[in-house]
Amino acid sequence: MIKNTDFPLRIAADEAFCNRVDERDKLKKLLLSGQHLWLQAHRRHGKSSLLLQTFKDLQHDNKNVIYIRVDLAFASDRVSVLNKLCQGASTLIIEALRMARQTKPGELFSIVAQQLGESFNRYAPSFSIDKGSISMKLGTEASLDMLETSLQKLNEISKAHNIRVVFMIDEFQQLSKSDNKSFDIEGAIRHNLELADNITYVFCGSEHNLMCQALEENIRPLYKHTYRFELKRISRDSYLKHIQPLWLAQWQTDIDHSIFDYIMQTTQRHPYYVNYLCAEIWLCDSTPTIELAEQAWRKIVEDELSVNKKMILDLKNNEKKTLRALAILPTQEVTANRFVTLANIPAGSMKKTINQLLNKDLIYLDEGVYKILSPALASIAADG
Ligand SMILES: Nc1ncnc2c1ncn2[C@@H]1O[C@H](COP(=O)(O)OP(=O)(O)OP(=O)(O)O)[C@@H](O)[C@H]1O
Ligand SMILES: [Mg+2]
Repeated sequence: MIKNTDFPLRIAADEAFCNRVDERDKLKKLLLSGQHLWLQAHRRHGKSSLLLQTFKDLQHDNKNVIYIRVDLAFASDRVSVLNKLCQGASTLIIEALRMARQTKPGELFSIVAQQLGESFNRYAPSFSIDKGSISMKLGTEASLDMLETSLQKLNEISKAHNIRVVFMIDEFQQLSKSDNKSFDIEGAIRHNLELADNITYVFCGSEHNLMCQALEENIRPLYKHTYRFELKRISRDSYLKHIQPLWLAQWQTDIDHSIFDYIMQTTQRHPYYVNYLCAEIWLCDSTPTIELAEQAWRKIVEDELSVNKKMILDLKNNEKKTLRALAILPTQEVTANRFVTLANIPAGSMKKTINQLLNKDLIYLDEGVYKILSPALASIAADG
């Protein structure tokens, strides 16, 4: 029987997590050595899952590591961004003190109140304990100064107790949308990142272009301050090893390789769509057929079409035509006669159209070949 965790559409963990052994090993080394990271991958390619799984690996190895993921997805203004970052830091400070002292919650409470009460005095701190878990609330509105104090204190305490702290900021590009174009929050993070002894900062985000601007443009504070860790798609062999036993458990037969090939081919090994298609196929009571797999994919494409209708309608004509051509013929040479003729747009417009599609994160370069990022959009475009 399928477990709802076998092919999750959200974070993949434990048994649902397929492979990425090399990436996890490398990431562990980087995190422990204090190499600040930019985890770069397109939307829904497994950034959060990989980081969380790697962190579980570290805990399993009993490393003196604590971790937080601050997700800025819904932080819409400057104060809420600062608030989230400060809260993340204070949670880690308390966790570091707990780990260092190994005390009972009651004793820890007075240590936390004493250690943090002084440093955060000007922000009117109050402390509470709920079901054994201690938290600090600050009475003044989150500010840049508060962020600086929080990150400095976190570094100081983690250094004093030799604890490695991983501070992950997810959807980091949101920061630039609320940073008043002065990039002073990025500046404060850079300052602390440069001075960090025991904190490893990890940045990731799903808006590729904004992430590139924040970390690759020389006018921005974090320019050339991070190790770029690029996440590729999971290999076919790894998927076979992962999916084969799940097939056997479900239908008590060996995997049908033509269906496996269909899954790999149709989804282009995009991890979200592999899980989506498998979750649909695994709903089947009897051993699936290729017709059933095709039907499952059609359902997914229809769902995606209704969800993305507005985005598709808003595309310019040249963009639609180019997407259709790329769905039929992924290509290295977008200005070659054959491709331009297939797309049926003026040759002089092709470069511009390709750049627009790249900026919208609708297409990507896979080892020099331009492809559509979402296999569902590719199916929609091919039919269009
Ligand atoms: N190693 C893996 N094994 C199996 N499935 C995975 C793996 N990594 C990611 N997935 C699946 O891919 C999808 C996206 O995963 P995740 O949310 O980790 O990606 P993300 O890059 O953080 O997404 P976003 O761009 O929305 O932040 C989910 O359906 C998840 O279950
Ligand atoms: Mg994510």
